[in-house]
Amino acid sequence: MNVEELKKIREKTQREMDLRNGEKAIKVVVGMGTCGIAAGARPVMAAIKDELARQNAQNITVIQSGCAGFCEQEPLMDIFRSRGKKVTYGKVSPDKARKIVVEHILGGRVVNEFVFAQEK
Ligand code: FES
Repeated sequence: MNVEELKKIREKTQREMDLRNGEKAIKVVVGMGTCGIAAGARPVMAAIKDELARQNAQNITVIQSGCAGFCEQEPLMDIFRSRGKKVTYGKVSPDKARKIVVEHILGGRVVNEFVFAQEK
């Protein structure tokens, strides 16, 4: 086995470990409590899933949460990037959700104009 082959094995192993540990994973959480749904969280969730599929995005988990206690900011969308800070977007519409998917989740740039709260 030569150095090149060893390097390839190491890179492959690293990729698998990253996946297992979720090192490159992103988690998206949409508030689907009663007031989130009343404010339009269902079409927001559908838009997020559709845009992720359209962009063929990998290693991204989308889940729903319950009431977060900020009714007036619903629908809420949290983005957790491993080793990153949590960013919460408020009053998310389907169009805003698609923009957040493209710019923040895939592009790595927080969409400041829609941010409700951000971990320091
Ligand atoms: S009822 Fe609105 S955030 Fe809980």
